[in-house]
Parts: sequence; C-alpha cells; structure tokens
Amino acid sequence: MSFRIIGTGMYVPPKAVTNDDLAQIVDTNDEWISKRVGVKERRVSETEFTSEMGAKAAQAALDDAGVKAQDLDMILAASVSGETVSPSMACMVQHRLGATCPAMELNAACAAFLYLLETAAAFFALHKDYKRILVVGCERMSGILDWTDRSTCVIFGDGSGAAVLERGEGYLDSVITVKGGDDVIKIPHFLGCSPFFKTEQDTPYIHMKGQETFKYAVTAIAQDITTLLERNHLTIDDIAWIVPHQANKRIIDFACHKLGISTEKMFVNIEKYGNTSSASVPMALHELKESGKLQRGDKVILCAFGGGLSNAACLIEY
Ligand code: UT7
Repeated sequence: MSFRIIGTGMYVPPKAVTNDDLAQIVDTNDEWISKRVGVKERRVSETEFTSEMGAKAAQAALDDAGVKAQDLDMILAASVSGETVSPSMACMVQHRLGATCPAMELNAACAAFLYLLETAAAFFALHKDYKRILVVGCERMSGILDWTDRSTCVIFGDGSGAAVLERGEGYLDSVITVKGGDDVIKIPHFLGCSPFFKTEQDTPYIHMKGQETFKYAVTAIAQDITTLLERNHLTIDDIAWIVPHQANKRIIDFACHKLGISTEKMFVNIEKYGNTSSASVPMALHELKESGKLQRGDKVILCAFGGGLSNAACLIEY
C-alpha cells in the first residue's frame, strides 16, 4: 500500500544542555531526571528557528534518498512550536529547500509523524501521479517551555527529523486515535486581547498532567501495537524493531511489560535528545537506520502519543 521510505534525515542544534546544567536553573538533579525520565542531555537552539532546523533535516533526508527538492510532489510538515502560524512550517521548509510542490502543515502534537505518514498515504492514493512526498517533524520545544516548571522543562528538547517517501508497497497498516480534551496536555497559543475579550488566558507554555499522560501513553502504545499485530496475523517475533515516541524511557519499559515483550525490540535514543515531540519518531528512525541494525525488508512498528490526546501507530516494511 502506497509508499516506501527511501531516505531519512535529522538535525539537532549544536548546544547540548545536560541535567547538571538544568540543576543550575530549577530545583532538579541528574539522578531524578535520569531515573524518572531517562534523559541525560537535550539540544537547545540558540539561534535557529524551527523551520531552519526542519529544512536541514529535510535536506539530509533528500540527500540520503538521492532526490532533488524540485522532484518532490508534496511536503507535509508537523510542529507545535513553529515560529509562525502562517506561513506554515511546511511552506517555510518548501521555500528554504527551493522546492516548488504544494506544502501543508498538520498538528497532532507528539503523535504527528504518524499522522504525516497517514496523510501522505492518502495523498498518494488521491494523486496517482505523485511519486515522492517529504514528511518533516520540526520543533523548538525550548521556546514553549516554562523554564521555572521543573516537571516539564527537563523533559523536552529541540530537533527535527524527516523522511522521503516514494510510491511503493511498504506502508502495511496503521491505527490512529484521538481522545479529545484540553485538561491533560495543553499548549495555549499566544493571542492578543481585543477590547471585547474578557476571558483569562493560560500562559503560552506546555501545561501537562504528567502521571495522567504517563498512564494514557503506556495503554495507548500497548493497545496500538497489539491491534497491528493481531490485525496482520503477526507475532512480536515477526517485528524487527519498534520505534516509539521518545517521551520517557519508563513509559517504553512499562509498555513492554504490559505487552510481555523484551525492551530490546524498542529503539531508544531519549538519553541524548529528550522529547522532541513530532521530531522524535523520525529522529529515532534515522538513528536506527544509521546504526546499521535496520535491514531492507524488516517489518517495523512506529508508534507515538501526545497532546490531543492523540495516539497512532503503523506497521511498515522498511
Ligand atoms: O510527549 C508526550 C507527552 N508527555 C509525556 O509523555 C510525559 C508523561 N509523564 C512523565 O513522563 C512523568 O509523569 C514526568 C516525567 C512528567 C514526571 O515523573 P513522575 O515520576 O510521574 O513524577 P511525579 O509527577 O509523580 O512527581 C514525583 C516527585 C514530586 O515530588 P513529591 O511531591 O513526591 O515530593 C515532584 O515534585 O518528583 C518531583 N519532581 C521532580 N524532582 C526533581 C517533579 N519534577 C522533578 C524534577 N526534579 N525535574
């Protein structure tokens, strides 16, 4: 069905911020962050905007695929931390790459890369002449964090990840779910007040009920993976790798426990980058590929969850 991944790329800004660095800013410590979250350091942009990082990951994915920007039929991007609402990050990336194809952004928070793949599949089905679609998740999470809130500012990081998709048969199945509501994870937009607007607004930072998110995430990952395996008459032994959203190492471990599978199936790189929201799955997929442990023909499950609440997973043949 619809496409194969023919190239991947990622970009993170050069500045690494360690847990010890954060302990200088808020009341936290390396031991708590390492044990409770699994992050050792994260990258933080000093000068680059979200779309610049997105374009760098996109160019790396194009180079990896051996595809020119002008040969793309569509660019789909996702972000919760773009420097502009309009132009969208997709339009900004299109401009920075020198591409000429249509471009569109979507928002499904940390689950967005899965929604990008699903949307790409729909575009391939609709436009029979489309050959290649670029998908990009790009985030400057450091710009939407309350740096006085230790329960969120230690978790997230900046970065971008991208993939080039070519019409083919590698997208085997998918599951997408939303449990709508704004009381678990919320990132209010900054909107000015008109002379007539009388309602108080929340600060434009990430507001998150950590434990509720944690429980939801463990259940979502386990359910989505089970659905994909059962529906495709597969067992976990048929799957070479699971690439989960990198939100918390303990979420990944708990999900494995719930599924009764080894944590070795899960690709994890959270210790280096923290939670990069929509960029986390494509960054992890890229690093898995670069490690040499992913072979063509391998069956892989990608899965993610986040604000919305949104969760999604897909089964691909790499
Ligand atoms: O991308 C998708 C969205 N996000 C997620 O998936 C995040 C899901 N949730 C989580 O990863 C975890 O719930 C957190 C990492 C956010 C929090 O970990 P937790 O184990 O659930 O901690 P907690 O909220 O239950 O807090 C335990 C204690 C509290 O202290 P007391 O009340 O027991 O004295 C917190 O104040 O840990 C304290 N605490 C910290 N201590 C040191 C919270 N943050 C920190 C911190 N450093 N940074």
